[in-house]
Amino acid sequence: MEISNEVYSQDLSLPNMFKGFSKLTHAQRLQALLDYGILQNTDVEYLQKGGLKNTALGEKFVENVIGYFQLPLGIATNFCVDGKHYVIPMAVEETSIVAAASKTAKWIRENGAMTTAVIGRHIIGQIQLAKIKDFVDFERKILSKKSEYIELANQEVAFGMVRRGGGVHDIVVRRVPRGDGSDMAVIHVHMDPVDAMGANIVNQVCEFLKHPIEQLTSEKVTMCILSNLVDTKLTKATVVLEKIDEELAEKIEEASLFSQQDPYRAATNNKGVLNGMDPILIATGNDWRAVEAGVHAYASRDGSYRSITTWKRHGNTLVGNLVAPIIVGTVGGVTSLHPTAAMCLKMMKVESASELSRVIAAVGLVQNLGALRALTTVGIIEGHMKLHIQNLTLAAGANEKEIPFVQKKLEEILSLKKRISLSHASEVLKELRSRVHHYER
Ligand code: MEV
Repeated sequence: MEISNEVYSQDLSLPNMFKGFSKLTHAQRLQALLDYGILQNTDVEYLQKGGLKNTALGEKFVENVIGYFQLPLGIATNFCVDGKHYVIPMAVEETSIVAAASKTAKWIRENGAMTTAVIGRHIIGQIQLAKIKDFVDFERKILSKKSEYIELANQEVAFGMVRRGGGVHDIVVRRVPRGDGSDMAVIHVHMDPVDAMGANIVNQVCEFLKHPIEQLTSEKVTMCILSNLVDTKLTKATVVLEKIDEELAEKIEEASLFSQQDPYRAATNNKGVLNGMDPILIATGNDWRAVEAGVHAYASRDGSYRSITTWKRHGNTLVGNLVAPIIVGTVGGVTSLHPTAAMCLKMMKVESASELSRVIAAVGLVQNLGALRALTTVGIIEGHMKLHIQNLTLAAGANEKEIPFVQKKLEEILSLKKRISLSHASEVLKELRSRVHHYER
């Protein structure tokens, strides 16, 4: 790679790389990632060539492949989680997410701290027995064989997990009402997947246990599948911001209350949190649908849909918390096979699946804070739509020569009307083209 711009000082610590990163050209950004040892030459060449091209790998993942769908890959900067500095890869199409995450992370880095934890270690597999004659007798029989089943599952199926320090640890029997006065039985298999997401193995364990359960109880297993509501393995992130303007802190606290008490607001709030989480899940090849499903189910755990984040003011200190199931893997599956995912994971320098899930939680909470700060101060139009002008200009079909004029006009319309849309962009472009046409005649 031939980039020789002297854009950095000799200080090769990560916080120094973050300085002015957004102002660098594309080539300088890649050079910075090389200089700081975050990427290697092969990674940079891969990015410069435009990533994955050969569809042979795609054929391994899905069926009827015709090509790849490419998303922009950005870097969120300034993240210091539990005292460690991270480069955050984000694959996302929505304008301002990466900028807002970086800006808010800088605010926190300079005025507070982010800390995280993982609570619990088990994922859940479910075995349903839809029609059960006698639940009490069924439960008694299963629990009498619990240790035997756990040992068998670990020996025959989850041996790889056991070797890495995890495996099946518990079996729980649940009585679930059918809604017609009778009950179904649901067996939960609790497994520590260590650094894998664990979906395949826990599904295999459940299917493996089907036969012995049917033999023992003379009942019929209806289906086996993991649960995405993993309340046995939750990730928590906390942000503490010192010396914050008290009026702003109060507004953020009020916005937080809104998202706790009103499901209409909670849905949008959680969408904003997922704006931070999904792009990392995608970039690292993790199953973002599974995390989304888990987050929403967890957000409804008490019967009402609520925000997964809370913000509280204590004088001029603001404290935010996020708790959610964020089940990810750093080994196996797409994470290892997809070269972009493998590169992104390497960039983050995470050492375990738990560490990845903690960083994702922190980014979700930071993204939420950025959104709440914008919404309770300048509002969504200024904070979000201004950057959206770029997209509208392109969507209207402006070419390289036309872009500066259309963008300037749209900025004027925005400051005048406080709103902007694709039809504004199309009108401005139409007018520009008719004027050019007039002069060219
Ligand atoms: C937009 O993508 C996300 C927000 O709506 C989040 C929020 O309302 O908290 C700004």
